[in-house]
Amino acid sequence: MSRRRKVYEGKAKTMYEGPEPGTLIQSFKDDATAFNNEKRGTITGKGVLNNRISEFLMTRLNDIGIPTHFIRRLNMREQLVRQVEIIPIEVVIRNVAAGSISKRFGIEEGTALPRPIIEYYYKSDELGDPLISEDHITAFGWAAVQDLDDMVALSLRINDFLTGLFVGVGLRLIDFKLEFGRLYTDEDMQIVLADEISPDNCRLWDTKTNEKLDKDRFRRDMGGVKEAYQEVARRLGVLPEAGPMDLKGPRGIQ
Ligand code: TMP
Repeated sequence: MSRRRKVYEGKAKTMYEGPEPGTLIQSFKDDATAFNNEKRGTITGKGVLNNRISEFLMTRLNDIGIPTHFIRRLNMREQLVRQVEIIPIEVVIRNVAAGSISKRFGIEEGTALPRPIIEYYYKSDELGDPLISEDHITAFGWAAVQDLDDMVALSLRINDFLTGLFVGVGLRLIDFKLEFGRLYTDEDMQIVLADEISPDNCRLWDTKTNEKLDKDRFRRDMGGVKEAYQEVARRLGVLPEAGPMDLKGPRGIQ
């Protein structure tokens, strides 16, 4: 690993130079942080699970024509991705009130929202990722109007698709966070989905019991964090310990 050039180190992932120009290796760590790095911990095996879960979800999204940075999984912790210029915005899509929206507006967690709500946060550790509006994004030049239009259209398609996919395995997609990047090809530029989709950046509740199967178990000291990530992987049919014979994709609920 040390022979590769590190391009960027984030809280949960490290990016290395890829084998060909225009590619990067995205390596998933077991480190977990919350509340802008105030709370830190390690969830043993999280990196391996998130690598598999994100591979599975990005592949399904590619299948339905959503452009993503994902190329292929390389090994237990790493995947090959296209190098993109990350847009410094976290796009949060909410179907059900939970977390910061519940706190901000006093809405009980678990209340279904009248329609999906999109929020934007400016990616800045120093500023604590402030909530921003579309006007901030375009006025400060973080993304062009057309880029933002593409991000919204993609986010809503991703939400519809993932909501259905998760319902099929007995999970409610409460909310999730996406990041997008600009992929440059010859004279062209395309907005593509980047980063990862995993229980680190989704809220997933069991449809029947409302049990939380995501990073809120870490944020709120609920215990059973690793087991929750494993359960999501198991339901999607990508739990590594299950062995290759069992990796046949999601199992439907009866
Ligand atoms: P929030 O309710 O804390 O604003 O979180 C909304 C969603 O975004 C939730 O699924 C967790 C995810 N998220 C991240 O992925 N990264 C972050 O830094 C934050 C604050 C939330």
